[in-house]
Amino acid sequence: NAQNKIPEGLQQLPGPKPFPIIGNVLELGSRPYLSLTSMSKRYGDVFQIQIGMRPVVVLSGNETVRQALIKQGDEFAGRPDLYSFRYINDGKSLSFSTDQAGIWRARRKLAYSALRSFSNLDSTTPEYSCALEEHISKETEYLIKELNTVMKTKGSFDPFRYVVVSVANVICGMCFGRRYDHHDDELVSLVNLSDDFVKVVGSGNPADFIPLLQYLPSTKMKKFMSLNARFSKFVQKLVTEHYATFDKDNIRDITDSLIDHCEDRKLDENANIQMSDEKIVGIVNDLFGAGFDTISTALSWSLMYFVAYPEIQNRLFEEIKEKVGLDRMPVFSDRNNLPLLEAYILELFRHSSYLPFTIPHCTTKDTSLNGYFIPKDTCVFINQWQINHDPEMWEDPFSFKPERFLNADGTEVNKVEGEKVMTFGLGKRRCIGEVIARNEVFLFLAILIQKLNFQALPGDQLDLTPEYGLTMKHKRYHLRATMRVRNEQ
Ligand code: HEM
Repeated sequence: NAQNKIPEGLQQLPGPKPFPIIGNVLELGSRPYLSLTSMSKRYGDVFQIQIGMRPVVVLSGNETVRQALIKQGDEFAGRPDLYSFRYINDGKSLSFSTDQAGIWRARRKLAYSALRSFSNLDSTTPEYSCALEEHISKETEYLIKELNTVMKTKGSFDPFRYVVVSVANVICGMCFGRRYDHHDDELVSLVNLSDDFVKVVGSGNPADFIPLLQYLPSTKMKKFMSLNARFSKFVQKLVTEHYATFDKDNIRDITDSLIDHCEDRKLDENANIQMSDEKIVGIVNDLFGAGFDTISTALSWSLMYFVAYPEIQNRLFEEIKEKVGLDRMPVFSDRNNLPLLEAYILELFRHSSYLPFTIPHCTTKDTSLNGYFIPKDTCVFINQWQINHDPEMWEDPFSFKPERFLNADGTEVNKVEGEKVMTFGLGKRRCIGEVIARNEVFLFLAILIQKLNFQALPGDQLDLTPEYGLTMKHKRYHLRATMRVRNEQ
């Protein structure tokens, strides 16, 4: 009896009564961010559900989530051993595997420093402040060219299909020192499959919790496994090429720097963390995977909100016209001068909450939160969507209003309000790509807004209900784009 084990002074977790075998799967439904938000109203910020036979603790509320992930960070920093996670990056993922704390921490540090040094790297020309800015500017230019061509030949386009290639190229540039053409079948088909990935790894996928389901044939799971295998093969080929051409005196990209780290470590007799080369070089697989789906989903949602709110799109253009002008491309350093765009991005993250839950966490020891006992190895879901729509924190939470982040005269972003938006997680497992991601979303959008005006197709009734997953996608619509200013030729 679980109740017997609860230490004195602590309470048993509240929550709905589970059915035998399936637990609360039915109540969870197909939109867990909504069902778990309504349960939080009934049971509070800390409650327990059962998925199959497995208990899962669900955390909501800004204060409670901060208490768990920041103040009690180590206790909540683990990852659960979930069936689908074993197939990601051959079970060696930095983000999804159950690596013990020491190994995970060492790998995370390596990933973070590789990412930082290759985004801050000098650009090839003085026109840009750093390599990341150069990659993004060039990719956005290619994208605009590509969209103009498609507009001329087909009259409309599927935004996600094109944006995902541009974003993948930015991270490919940093990880592998190369880019792919918008018509390169290998890359285009690979990155357009991210739906098959995010649908399976979203919090609460029943097959992760009910072993019986793992033995039933499932198209979704088959696609997921084949996607992971293809993804690993794609990365492995690039890694092999890097090993073959590796030169210690010319570290070209993140893959080289990870290979170099393996070499250095062999010379370092004091290295106390034992890790295979595979686990080190495999970090690049995580960076590439995390770096394209999240950002392309943000950009493609942005375009949907542009066409759903054309008046806001026009105001964003006016802001760029006034603050940057139309004679030069926007750059990173314009970010502080474009408060409406900054507010728009914050509102996009908040309103769409397209990453409704963080990657699931797991307790690393027996602990307690708000007076409730939570045993070691309990799977924990963090409901970011609930925090971003909490009526206690946000006025009119369901309206899309970028102005909520601006001061009264619209000249400045309210930083404190902005920090209330939960998109990148918090604490020990917080996203390591956050700074890059925010800069990248900003610059892609600034350049696109300056050059193009996006419209829905006449007669299309946009339904912005997201499709559930780790990252939630909008339904695919074709859009149109017209040049803001015709090239004078
Ligand atoms: C983890 C969001 C872009 C690398 C995460 C998590 C979230 C997140 C919610 C999970 C946090 C948790 O489990 O508590 C986002 C969003 C992005 C973005 C919204 C874009 C708008 C990126 C980029 C990279 C990246 C560009 C790297 C190139 C990672 C990694 C982890 C992670 C490696 C796993 C960290 C760990 O488990 O210790 N991200 N991310 N992310 N992110 Fe991001």
